[in-house]
Amino acid sequence: MNNLSQRVNQLEESATIAMARLSRELQEQGHDIISLSLGEPDFTTPEDICEAAREAIAEGFTHYPPISGFPDLRKAIAQKFKRENNLEYTSDQIVVSTGAKQSIANVVLSVIDPGDEVIVPAPYWVSYAQIIQLAGGVPVFIPTTVDTDFKPTSKQIQDKITAKTKLFIFSSPCNPTGTMYTKEELKSIAETLHPHSKIWILSDEIYEHIHFEAKHESIAQFDFIKERVIIVNGVSKGQAMTGWRIGFIAACKEISKACDKVQGQFTSGANSIAQKAALKAVSTEWANYDFMRVSFLRRRDLVLGLMKDIPGWKFNKPMGAFYVFPDVTFFFGKSDGQTTIHNATDLCMYLLKDAKVSMVTGEAFGDLNCVRLSFATSDELLIEAMRRIKLSFAKLK
Ligand SMILES: Cc1ncc(COP(=O)(O)O)c(C=O)c1O
Repeated sequence: MNNLSQRVNQLEESATIAMARLSRELQEQGHDIISLSLGEPDFTTPEDICEAAREAIAEGFTHYPPISGFPDLRKAIAQKFKRENNLEYTSDQIVVSTGAKQSIANVVLSVIDPGDEVIVPAPYWVSYAQIIQLAGGVPVFIPTTVDTDFKPTSKQIQDKITAKTKLFIFSSPCNPTGTMYTKEELKSIAETLHPHSKIWILSDEIYEHIHFEAKHESIAQFDFIKERVIIVNGVSKGQAMTGWRIGFIAACKEISKACDKVQGQFTSGANSIAQKAALKAVSTEWANYDFMRVSFLRRRDLVLGLMKDIPGWKFNKPMGAFYVFPDVTFFFGKSDGQTTIHNATDLCMYLLKDAKVSMVTGEAFGDLNCVRLSFATSDELLIEAMRRIKLSFAKLK
């Protein structure tokens, strides 16, 4: 027994980080590991954004910034919502945080009391469940499969609503599946939740700019539900700024004030220099950074083409983000003579050891049938990884 809080003892380490660490360790031991496990763009931050940060240092932006973010940044974010999403927000409806992750934590802490239920379609992004539990909430998962493009039906959502439901969380484009919801599907979710006036909707749009077939749609576009939608977004993925740690929310003033209050006690305002860099990122026309999306699209098509050539796994076509989430149940019960595969975690460990390719088990995302592979890496590594996986799969009988 340790002497730590139950809260911390219950907390699970992010499985994506654990897997990355293990593969780094193997790498350090001299193994040639190809990592398809990380959740960040392989681009460095565009130069104009870096330059804005250098200027901010030179201009002396080294003091505490306002808790919710610099006024010019909040204004620029509100303008971004108008320009890119046709959504009206005022600056005081925006709260800038230390990454979208902190934005999510602020929101959950603002609306969840112990025992409150949060509906989360599964597979889901790893941290949702842990953040909900930290707040004393109860995550209520809706299982979905590759056959329905990992989308829950209105009936499935309806069936999970109880008097204790306080929040619905989802991401589109989705990490880990790459699934994107169409305008009609979002409308249907909004209509399902609308009659239940106590339920907030957290719409995680952090992958907004990485889409392949159709433009991103936000559930906040429906006026009848907009007041209850909290958009979480940021510059980490679209502008390749994961290390700068800037995320933000757009929401009604009740929520933005609450997030300001929570953040004021935890971290205060996000890093001042990073905020100035983010100001450049959100004020710049997206077209300037679109080359990254185009590159992800090309690599998606490359990897899907290679995956089709490998028997056994079943996958959807990711419409956004930079992940594929194949169902690997075909391999369950199979063995290479030494290791028997019982679930997605076993398969990941097998591939790490045999193919020297690291992916993330679907278990981390609430799905024991799938694995997540990230195609945010070079063409050469994707080609080599698929060659090795094909050989390793072929050994499983
Ligand atoms: C769906 C989703 N939401 C939020 C985040 C957190 O973003 P940030 O790095 O800005 O904290 C991530 C990062 O992996 C993510 O995949």
